[in-house]
Amino acid sequence: MAGSGTAHLRDDPRVLVRVEHMVVEFPIHGGTVQAVSDVSFDLIEGETLGIVGESGCGKSTTARAVIQMPRPTSGSVLFRGTDLTQLSAEDLRSVRPDLQMIFQDPISSLNPRRTVHDIIAEGLRVWGDRGEWSIDKIDELMEAVGIDPRYGERKPHQFSGGQCQRISIARAFVLDPKVIICDEPVSALDVSVQAQILNLLEDMKARYGVSLMFISHDLSVVKNISDRVMVMYLGKVCEVAGSDDLFARPTHHYTRALMAAIPGSRAIVDEQVLEAELPSAIDPPAGCRFNTRCPAATDECRSVEPQLRPVGDGHFVACHHPHLPVAAAS
Ligand SMILES: Nc1ncnc2c1ncn2[C@@H]1O[C@H](COP(=O)(O)OP(=O)(O)O)[C@@H](O)[C@H]1O
Ligand code: SF4
Ligand SMILES: [Mg+2]
Repeated sequence: MAGSGTAHLRDDPRVLVRVEHMVVEFPIHGGTVQAVSDVSFDLIEGETLGIVGESGCGKSTTARAVIQMPRPTSGSVLFRGTDLTQLSAEDLRSVRPDLQMIFQDPISSLNPRRTVHDIIAEGLRVWGDRGEWSIDKIDELMEAVGIDPRYGERKPHQFSGGQCQRISIARAFVLDPKVIICDEPVSALDVSVQAQILNLLEDMKARYGVSLMFISHDLSVVKNISDRVMVMYLGKVCEVAGSDDLFARPTHHYTRALMAAIPGSRAIVDEQVLEAELPSAIDPPAGCRFNTRCPAATDECRSVEPQLRPVGDGHFVACHHPHLPVAAAS
C-alpha cells in the first residue's frame, strides 16, 4: 500500500512512542472504513505533540489505537521499544497505566454516582498495587488541578464543566503515567475556560514530567501548547513540523487552508477551500486525498500519493507541489 512515509520519524534515544504504518479499519455494512490509513509519528520524552485536522480525519481513532482500544488493523506502536500491538491483553495491562487519556466531554466521562475522591482514585483501584497511594496523593492532585480537597466527597454534577475537566486531569495523573493523550480536552468548554485548562495541562506536564498527545480540530488551540504539530486529513498525515515553524511556514495546502480559517488570520488562501465537501472516508480520493479541495491540484495529485519529505529542519510535508517556505512568509 502506498503510504504517507516515515521520513519524519526521529532516531532519538528519548523516543517514548513510535507509531509506524498504523492502519485502523472498522467494518461498516459489509465493507470497511479506513479511519487511519498508514499513519506514522513519534513522541519524545517531555514533548507535546499536537494532532490537528477536521472532524472525522481520524484523530481520535489514532489516539485510541495507541492505547490498543481498538487494536490497529496493521502497523506497530512501540512504547519504550515494546510493540504494544504484539502484547497479550494481560501483558498490555502492565503498560496501560503509563498511557492515560483525557476526553472531550468532562461531565459524561465522570461517573455521576461516584465522589470526586473515588473518581480520582479509580485508577489505583483498577490497576492495583502500582506505587504508593494515599489520601494525601488524591488531595495533592486535587490541589494541583485547582479543586479544593475539601470537596472530595462531592459528586460531578456539583461542579462546572471546567471543574469536571480539572477532575479528569487529576484522575489521569494519579498513576504517574508517562504519556497523556488529550482528545479535544477543551472543545466542550467555554472559550473563557479553555485557556485555564490549557495552562493547567502545561503546569501539570511540567510538574509531573509527562509527554502529551494533544488532539484538537482547532489549529489555534494546539498552537501554544504543542512543541510539534501533526496535521491529518482523511486518515493521512499531511504535514509535521515544530509548532512555531508550522505557523510561520505552513507548507501543505490543507494546513494553509486550516490556518486561513482561524478568525483574524492574515493568511492569504482561497477561503472557499474548506467549504467544498469533505470526501467520504469510505471512498477516499485516489492520489493525494486532498486533491478534490486543493487549489493547486494537478493530474499527478489525482493519481500518485505524496510521501512525507523534508522541507526544513524537522519540517516534513506530503505534497507534490508544496507552498515553499520562502514564498510562504507573507
Ligand atoms: N467505531 C467506529 N465504527 C465505524 N466507523 C468509525 C468508528 N469510529 C470512527 N469511525 C470513522 O472513522 C473516521 C475517523 O473518525 P475519528 O477518529 O473519530 O475522527 P476525529 O477524531 O478526527 O473526528 C470517521 O469517518 C468515522 O466515522
Ligand atoms: S499533493 Fe497536490 S492536491 Fe495534494 S495538497 Fe499537494 S498540491 Fe494539493
Ligand atoms: Mg475525535
